Amino acid sequence: MTRLAPLLLLCSLSAHAAEPVRVLVVYYSQSGNTEKLARALNEGAASVEGTESLLRKIEDVTQAELEAAHGIALGSPVYMGDVAPAFRQAAVRWATDYGFWESRALQNKVGAVFATGAFPSNGKEFTMISLAQTLWQFGMVLVTPYGSVGASATTTAPDRGVDEVEQRIARELGVRLAETAARMRD
Ligand SMILES: Cc1cc2nc3c(=O)[nH]c(=O)nc-3n(C[C@H](O)[C@H](O)[C@H](O)COP(=O)(O)O)c2cc1C
Repeated sequence: MTRLAPLLLLCSLSAHAAEPVRVLVVYYSQSGNTEKLARALNEGAASVEGTESLLRKIEDVTQAELEAAHGIALGSPVYMGDVAPAFRQAAVRWATDYGFWESRALQNKVGAVFATGAFPSNGKEFTMISLAQTLWQFGMVLVTPYGSVGASATTTAPDRGVDEVEQRIARELGVRLAETAARMRD
């Protein structure tokens, strides 16, 4: 029996190696800014070898996709200093209809957050912490960019949109999410 142990370990390691790390980038966006940041984060995650990264609007993501993911990023515009209502509704749906509180199906998955807001100091960090709170409700582990809560963009000055630096930080966060999800999975 003990002689078989190294062989069994090798088999389980190679089974993992064949399976892609799955990242899900879930966002809400009405005028395209948060979607742009979501695309950058998705691009970063997908650039990590062995990763499959999917973009999903909050209203379209399915229970099966959430359960299958190893890493999940959540992104919202700032609405009245907080997340868009669609995120609050989704968090309640995940806890109750999907049963994630009881099943702990999201526990120990890796998460990241991002936000866009029109003005400086007008709710982006609060929104990201609010999104992180959703991840923590389900026992997930948060990864951040170096030195901040998440990736964010200040979008109006006027019509500034999402600039290259903001997209780069989102791409880097995507890389970190995919790499950490791979480590947590193994
Ligand atoms: C109802 C509403 C409330 C908003 N409240 C805020 C706010 O409190 N602070 C802020 O910086 N921007 C606020 N904004 C601006 C959006 O957060 C910003 O334009 C964002 O980039 C839009 O993202 P989207 O293009 O992905 O929809 C608000 C926009 C709307 C429609």
